Amino acid sequence: MRTHWSSRFGFILAAVGSAVGLGNIWKFPFITGMNGGGAFVLVYLVAILFCGLPILMAEFLIGRHAQKDVVGSFQALTPQSSFWKSIGWLNLAAAFIILSYYGVVAGWTLDYLFKSLSGAFGGHTPEEISGMFGALVTDPARQLICLTGFMGLCLLAVISGIKEGIERWNKVLMPTLFAILIFMAGYAMTTGGAMEGLKFMLYPDFSKLTINGVLEAIGHSFFTLSLAMGAMITYASYMDKKEAIYPVAIRIAFLDTLVAIIAGLAIFPIVFSVGMEPGGGPGLIFKTLPQVFATIPLGNILSALFFVLLAFAALSSAISLLEVLTAFMIDEKKYDRKKATICMTVAVYIAGIPSALCYSTLGNVKLLKGMEILDSLDYITSNFMLPIGGLLIAIYTGHILDKKISRAEITENGAGYLTIFTIWYFTIRYIAPIAVLIVFLTKIGIIKT
Ligand code: PFF
Repeated sequence: MRTHWSSRFGFILAAVGSAVGLGNIWKFPFITGMNGGGAFVLVYLVAILFCGLPILMAEFLIGRHAQKDVVGSFQALTPQSSFWKSIGWLNLAAAFIILSYYGVVAGWTLDYLFKSLSGAFGGHTPEEISGMFGALVTDPARQLICLTGFMGLCLLAVISGIKEGIERWNKVLMPTLFAILIFMAGYAMTTGGAMEGLKFMLYPDFSKLTINGVLEAIGHSFFTLSLAMGAMITYASYMDKKEAIYPVAIRIAFLDTLVAIIAGLAIFPIVFSVGMEPGGGPGLIFKTLPQVFATIPLGNILSALFFVLLAFAALSSAISLLEVLTAFMIDEKKYDRKKATICMTVAVYIAGIPSALCYSTLGNVKLLKGMEILDSLDYITSNFMLPIGGLLIAIYTGHILDKKISRAEITENGAGYLTIFTIWYFTIRYIAPIAVLIVFLTKIGIIKT
């Protein structure tokens, strides 16, 4: 018999753990900053409702019905066609590639955590602090140590299984993450930048919103809910048949969005309070924030707390991707959990080495038009593998999979949620695939903006 989560709460925490990651705390604040603040937040909410949430429900029903790993699930639901099984392979490949480079970025959070704890930011000029980031990514040995440490933590969580490992770890990681986040947002509200930060995040300046911002919002709604990378299908395969899908999915989408918004409310006031620029882009967290922490009272403690938050968010997401790969080896290749986890961790670790060394030893290797290895892999997965995977999942559940299966899963065998099912079915058949297709065609330049 397949292991199940010990409770609905355990499942929600694990799925929220997967969803809440660097995407929420690092990416969301800076893309909001670059796309007109509140106006972008509004579009993003619409994208979550009409794209993210329906596809999340689709992944839940696929995994929960099949009770298998991501490749096995498609095989079990449509055994007559091997084409649809390839969605499973695509998701599996996305999980593998994303985890390989995410492990490197997550490793940086560990390095910054140690820096904060050892007071390394104190007594340095802003330029010196900003330069520490460059020094880290160009140091091959440190990059490898960080990657090793982070992948080791993932291994420890996944090797002990669903209840004893993943669920237990998330029961510690997630509440701690929420507590730190709320504490930091509370602190941010006491700083002089509170009003400016609130206005920046919440005031909709539509003049700054571009079509690219809209596309970014749809793409991000995908990444942030860990869609098209097998995580939600695999986690849902451990879900009890008695659990209703919709209430769980809406809670996960809500909590994920809440964390992203609170992260912005915690970060921007602190940045504004010392008169720094919010549009720091990707460097906001590793370059701007440590400079801010170095100048404010109790900055050392805040800095350590912030990087614990970031490391926990990254860890709970990475665990879900390692589980995608491990479940595949267990279900399809009949490995036991221990062997499956070790093999997959080692494989991902080896695949992550080029990303770890891409700003130093392998600096000359460019995969895509002058981009470093890590950036290229991020670009390929975020812009191609995830949108195509999501589009195929929407088409699959909306047009290929027997409607009776989806209806039975979403309405809990006719027990309720009929209106939800009707709305969801229309959205997954038409709205979500069309929106994702438009994003994809625009990103690859077929639709010109
Ligand atoms: N939902 C995650 C995030 O927003 O960061 C996306 C993710 C990335 C999940 C990497 C898992 C992972 F390993």
